[in-house]
Amino acid sequence: MSLTREQMIDLLNGDLASEYAAVIQYLTYAAKVTGPNRNELSQFFQEEIPGETGHAKFLADKIVALGGTPTVTPSDVPQVADNKGMLEAVLAAERAAVARYIERASQAEAMGQKGLQVQLEDMVADETGHMEQVERILRGWRG
Ligand SMILES: [Fe+2]
Ligand SMILES: [Fe+2]
Repeated sequence: MSLTREQMIDLLNGDLASEYAAVIQYLTYAAKVTGPNRNELSQFFQEEIPGETGHAKFLADKIVALGGTPTVTPSDVPQVADNKGMLEAVLAAERAAVARYIERASQAEAMGQKGLQVQLEDMVADETGHMEQVERILRGWRG
């Protein structure tokens, strides 16, 4: 069954809150990482910020185009003390983003919103790339 425009706006606002959270998560974790891998991990986290910001910008623009008001409230970001915990929290967030955008793309398709569907599918690809990078870092993790 096809969603109403209002329902899609609400769902996209949930996605936008998660993208804001991703920006905050990567920015704070980049500051917080410690130890011999600090520079590398900090750079990795920082490099994710422009991509997530781009997703947030797309969603905010689309929400306005559909007649809605973009949220200014991010989802909660987990506070984690150690590097491995930060990577695991990021992995969970990226997996959730992949699942969200797969569902959203099929909802957009059911509404006949082809342009939105294609953009959301691009975001599935982006978040899958992020997820796989973090998986590979964690695969080689010692200690
Ligand atoms: Fe994102
Ligand atoms: Fe991501």
